Amino acid sequence: MNFLGLLSLVLVVYCTSATVPSIKLNTGYQMPQLGLGTWQAKGDPVKQAVKDALEIGYRHIDTAFIYGNEKEVGDGIWEQINKGLLKREDLFITTKVWPEGSNREKALASVKNSLKLLNVTYLDLVLIHWPVGDINSIYQGLEDAFNQKLVRSIGISNFNQTNIDNLLKTAKVVPANNQINIHPTLNQDETVAYCNKLGIAVTGYSPLGTGSMIKNPILTSIGAKHNKTASQVAIRWQIDRNLITIPKSVNKKYIKEDFEVFDFKLTADEIKTIHNMKA
Ligand SMILES: NC(=O)c1ccc[n+]([C@@H]2O[C@H](COP(=O)([O-])OP(=O)(O)OC[C@H]3O[C@@H](n4cnc5c(N)ncnc54)[C@H](OP(=O)(O)O)[C@@H]3O)[C@@H](O)[C@H]2O)c1
Repeated sequence: MNFLGLLSLVLVVYCTSATVPSIKLNTGYQMPQLGLGTWQAKGDPVKQAVKDALEIGYRHIDTAFIYGNEKEVGDGIWEQINKGLLKREDLFITTKVWPEGSNREKALASVKNSLKLLNVTYLDLVLIHWPVGDINSIYQGLEDAFNQKLVRSIGISNFNQTNIDNLLKTAKVVPANNQINIHPTLNQDETVAYCNKLGIAVTGYSPLGTGSMIKNPILTSIGAKHNKTASQVAIRWQIDRNLITIPKSVNKKYIKEDFEVFDFKLTADEIKTIHNMKA
């Protein structure tokens, strides 16, 4: 790498590491509040999206076995690591095990398969994707992976209070994270409060309502006051609620736009308006 290349790399790392706040999980690890989602993105486009996101400054990537893209996500990550843009330990990688037909042994095998596909020696976070099937047995598989240090933190996804209570009857490790659907017309107050009480950090997935929020007039008008788009307002609302959030795009322009949410803050009134939006 020549001097100019090295200088721009240093600037990228310096500028970006300072911007994204993180949440401390109950395992002691820090989870960046903003990550790149990868659902419905496959092949070269997802590999390129991961490369673009890491260049822009993202240090948190969300994938899942069922997305069928862990290999390409890993390829994108490793191209940037090999270029010297970042180190593995700078990055927070989440994946999920698919619960249907799974059990303790299969869940542990799924974690090992994800490690192989992503080409890493540990994962930052592994979640049970949905509360279906024998979640108590599947979670034991995640606990095995945690005890074998294959995974730094383990958790759940799409779990409500009842699902959490059922899991906690047998869990030895309190989940570090619950990833649930949150966007302006779905504030999930009750589940968020319950998780907060138990020390479970919450990730809001589909923060743009899988695209349905990007032209929302209320978000657009709030955004106009801050010179921001509706998408940026929807993402910022989650950051201001101390949630973690993972917008998805395979378009570099949008990946960049979704990252530029740390140079403004919503007012208390704006947060309340968004919070009470109806579908
Ligand atoms: N745990 C679970 O069960 C679960 C379920 C759903 C999602 N998730 C996770 O959450 C992530 C995000 O959720 P999501 O994929 O449902 O949707 P989302 O992030 O709410 O919205 C993504 C959609 O919005 C578009 N978009 C993104 N940024 C934009 C911008 N600035 N301006 C205009 N359009 C923009 C994307 O377009 P393009 O991609 O075409 O650019 C895509 O169509 C997923 O990718 C996945 O990692 C988890």
